[in-house]
Amino acid sequence: MIEAGILEVRGAHKSFGGIIALDDVYLSLAPGEVHALIGPNGAGKTTLVSLICGEQELDAGEVYINRINATRLSVHARARLGLSRTYQLTQLFPDLSVGENILLSLVARDGSRLRVGQFVSERAARRFADEISCVLEEYALHDHRDALPGELSHGDRRRLELAMAIVRDPKILLLDEPLAGLSAADADALIEMIAQKLKGAIPILLIEHDMDAVFSLADTVTVLVNGKVLMTGRPDSVKASKEVQLAYLSEEDDF
Ligand SMILES: Nc1ncnc2c1ncn2[C@@H]1O[C@H](COP(=O)(O)OP(=O)(O)O)[C@@H](O)[C@H]1O
Ligand SMILES: [Mg+2]
Repeated sequence: MIEAGILEVRGAHKSFGGIIALDDVYLSLAPGEVHALIGPNGAGKTTLVSLICGEQELDAGEVYINRINATRLSVHARARLGLSRTYQLTQLFPDLSVGENILLSLVARDGSRLRVGQFVSERAARRFADEISCVLEEYALHDHRDALPGELSHGDRRRLELAMAIVRDPKILLLDEPLAGLSAADADALIEMIAQKLKGAIPILLIEHDMDAVFSLADTVTVLVNGKVLMTGRPDSVKASKEVQLAYLSEEDDF
């Protein structure tokens, strides 16, 4: 029987040729919690996220989303179960305006079968116009409605990507290094936004290098080293762990 986690990874194994990327990994995300996944470069964090999303296949083990065995389901089927992810490198539609990018997410949320390029019907745009305005306001993007993503600052792009993931009304959010490349001020603003709008409302698996962010946001921290879970616990006990400090000291100065 599986536990009550909203997202469960059980006994995950993954290797690439001779490299063992994940070795018997268990991870459980409780409803409403922010669960940080940390570990040195090459630990297997990104691999674990792509196995959860279905972008890669497990060699062994299982993934449960909302208590449904999703191990054999496609990326799209998992998204329909409520899984939404952001990428380390943003994946926006570069030829569509900020407002139209949001529109695409709203259309996707409502299950319409419109494809990119097809979707910009006047009717769809009118139907969602007010909601787009609200989203733009909420994410401080209202001055950029007609801009292309490429014209935005890095911080604005991150907020747009977060907004697009959230308006789809996900049940679980996977954030892959949301602060990567941001200035200190933009990073602080995004941490504040996650803390205020998301924490407690949506369970989040957060991959992040910024330890200040991890320890200010996370309820639970899992430390991955060489494809194995070294420890899962409360931020304070993870921070205090000699084993974790040793694993990090070789890699990171700021732990
Ligand atoms: N597609 C791939 N082909 C071969 N090796 C890979 C592939 N993806 C990841 N790896 C290897 O698996 C290990 C874990 O990588 P990754 O999940 O990217 O770690 P992290 O995100 O923690 O930095 C690394 O040794 C990496 O080189
Ligand atoms: Mg990675």
